[in-house]
Amino acid sequence: MRIDIVTIFPEYFTGPLDAALLGKARAKGLLDIRVHDLRAHTSDRHRTVDDEPFGGGPGMVMKAQPWFEAVEAIEGFQGARRVLLTPAGKRFDQRTAEQLAAAPHIVLMCGRYEGIDERVATGLATDEISIGDYVLAGGESASLVVVEAVTRLLAGVVGEPASLLEESFSTGLLDYPHFTRPAELRGMNVPDVLLSGDHAAIERWRREQAIERTKERRPDLLDG
Ligand code: 6GU
Repeated sequence: MRIDIVTIFPEYFTGPLDAALLGKARAKGLLDIRVHDLRAHTSDRHRTVDDEPFGGGPGMVMKAQPWFEAVEAIEGFQGARRVLLTPAGKRFDQRTAEQLAAAPHIVLMCGRYEGIDERVATGLATDEISIGDYVLAGGESASLVVVEAVTRLLAGVVGEPASLLEESFSTGLLDYPHFTRPAELRGMNVPDVLLSGDHAAIERWRREQAIERTKERRPDLLDG
C-alpha cells in the first residue's frame, strides 16, 4: 500500500512512522509512506498557506491552491482515495478503516482546525474524515490514527490474523477482559472459569462479559 501525507508539519511524522508496527510494515516493504510539505507548493517569499476568510470572522483559512498543487504533484493521485482530515468530516470507524485498507493508494491531507477553503473538499478530496467528537489543532495526529488503523489490517502486518477477527468493533462488541500469569496479584484473582480448562464455559463467560461491558460503556453499539 502507498500512503502520502500532506502537511505543514512534516517533522511531526519522523518518530511515529519509524516506530513499532508502522516501522515494521515499512521495513517489510508492505507499506510505502511519504510525507510532503505543503509549503513547498507555495510561490511567495513567505510561503503563505492561509488567508483571511471571505465574509469576515475570526481566524484564518487555508488557501486552496497549495493543496491542489501538492496533491497533483503526487504520482497516481487521480486513482487514490484522497482523504481530508477535518473535524467536520464523517466519523472514522473500523468499517472505514477496512474500506481504506482495500485501496492501493491513499493521500491524507492534514488540515488546520480553523478551516480550509471548501474547494479542497469539493474539488480535490474524495473523503472527509474526523476521528471523533473533540477538537484537535490539526489533522496530523488524526492522520496517524488513520494510518495505524489501516496498516494493521494489511496482510502480513499483524502476526496472527485471528487476533484481528475477535477484537472489539469487528464483532460489534467491546472486547472481553484478558488475564495472564500470575493467577493472584495483589489480592486480585483471575476468574476461576479461565483456570477451569472448560473451553465451552470459557467461551460463554467471554461472550457474557463482552455483552455486559458493551451495555455499560457503549450502549450505542447495541442499537443496531
Ligand atoms: Cl481530523 N481534525 C481536527 N482538527 N480535529 C479533529 C479531527 C480532525 N478529528 C477529530 N477532531
